[in-house]
Amino acid sequence: MGVKKRIAVITSGGDASGMNAAIRAVARYGIYKGLEIYGFYEGYKGLINNNFIVLDPASVGGIIDRGGTFLYSARSERFKCREGQKEAIGNMKNNGIEGLIVIGGDGSFRGAHELHKQGIKVIGIPATIDNDIPGTDYSIGFDTALNVIIGLISKIRDTAYSHDRIFVIEVMGRNSGIIAINTGLACGADFILIPEKKVDIIGIAESIKKNRASKRHTLVIVAEGAARASEVASSIKLLVGREVRVSVLGHIQRGGSPTALDRKLAAEFGKKSVDLLIEGKSDCMVGIKAMKIITQKFEDIFETVKGIDESLYNLTDILSR
Ligand code: F6P
Repeated sequence: MGVKKRIAVITSGGDASGMNAAIRAVARYGIYKGLEIYGFYEGYKGLINNNFIVLDPASVGGIIDRGGTFLYSARSERFKCREGQKEAIGNMKNNGIEGLIVIGGDGSFRGAHELHKQGIKVIGIPATIDNDIPGTDYSIGFDTALNVIIGLISKIRDTAYSHDRIFVIEVMGRNSGIIAINTGLACGADFILIPEKKVDIIGIAESIKKNRASKRHTLVIVAEGAARASEVASSIKLLVGREVRVSVLGHIQRGGSPTALDRKLAAEFGKKSVDLLIEGKSDCMVGIKAMKIITQKFEDIFETVKGIDESLYNLTDILSR
C-alpha cells in the first residue's frame, strides 16, 4: 500500500551541492500531493535521536541555490548495527512516518535497504560529487563539482603557462576516477591518474621531456584514490629535472551554488521519489538515463560497480597530444 499521510527525508554521507534543492522539491511536491514531510537532521543519526523539523513550504524557501545541506549530514556508526536501526524505526513509527527518502550515495542506500528489510518504505535520491552510483548517468552534485573544479584548474593554468611550469593537481575520488576524467577532459589536462588504471610516472616523465619544445606547461590531474599529488610531483621532478608545483583542491570541490543541471535533477528526482512512495514502491533509487528519469532496484546497483567511461579517458589522452 502506498503512503497516504506522512513521509520523512534525510541527507546522508558526503554533502553534495543540490541536496538543498532536492529537499525543497521533496517537501513542496509532497505537500502539494497532500503529505506531511518531516526533515530529520544529520541523516540516520537524526532518525536515531528523533531530531526533526516539520517542513512547510516556507521552511524550504531561499535554499534552492545554497550548497551543502540545511538538514546537515553525518556518517552514523550506531545506525550500522541492528540496535541503532531499531531505534530509528521506532522513532519513525511513533511519529506516524510511512516512508523515507534518503538523499545520498551508495553507502546511504545500503542503510535504506536495511530499513526496507525491516518494513519501512524507502526511496533513494542519488547525490554525490563522485557520480559513482551505478544505474544513473548523473548524481546530484557532480555537475556542480565539475564546474567548481574547472574554474579552479583554469586559474592554475593561467599561472602554469605564465611560468612554464608543471602542475600536479589532486582532485577528489577515493575509489573512482570519474571526477578526474571529466575535469581532465574539460580542462585539457595532459595526464590523468585514476585508481582504475596503473600509474605510469616514468611514461609521463618521458612524454614531458619529449614534448618539451612544443609544450610550455603541463597539467597532471590525479584522483586522490590513485596517488598522492605530492608524491607524483616529487617523482616527476626527479625524472624530468624541472620544478613541479602541487595543488590539492580538497573540500573546496564539494561547495558552491548548484548548477542548473543539478537543480533540475533535484526537482525531478524529488518529484519522482514522492510519487514512488505514494505508489507504494520501496527499496529503489531514482536516476536519469539518456535524459529520462528512471527507477533502479537497490539490489541491482549494489551488485554493480560503475566503471569509468573508457572512451572519455582515451579522448582526453588524444586531445592532449
Ligand atoms: O563525497 C565523496 C567524497 O568527496 C570522496 O571523493 C572523498 O574521498 C570523500 O568524499 C571525502 O569526504 P570526507 O572528508 O567527508 O570523508
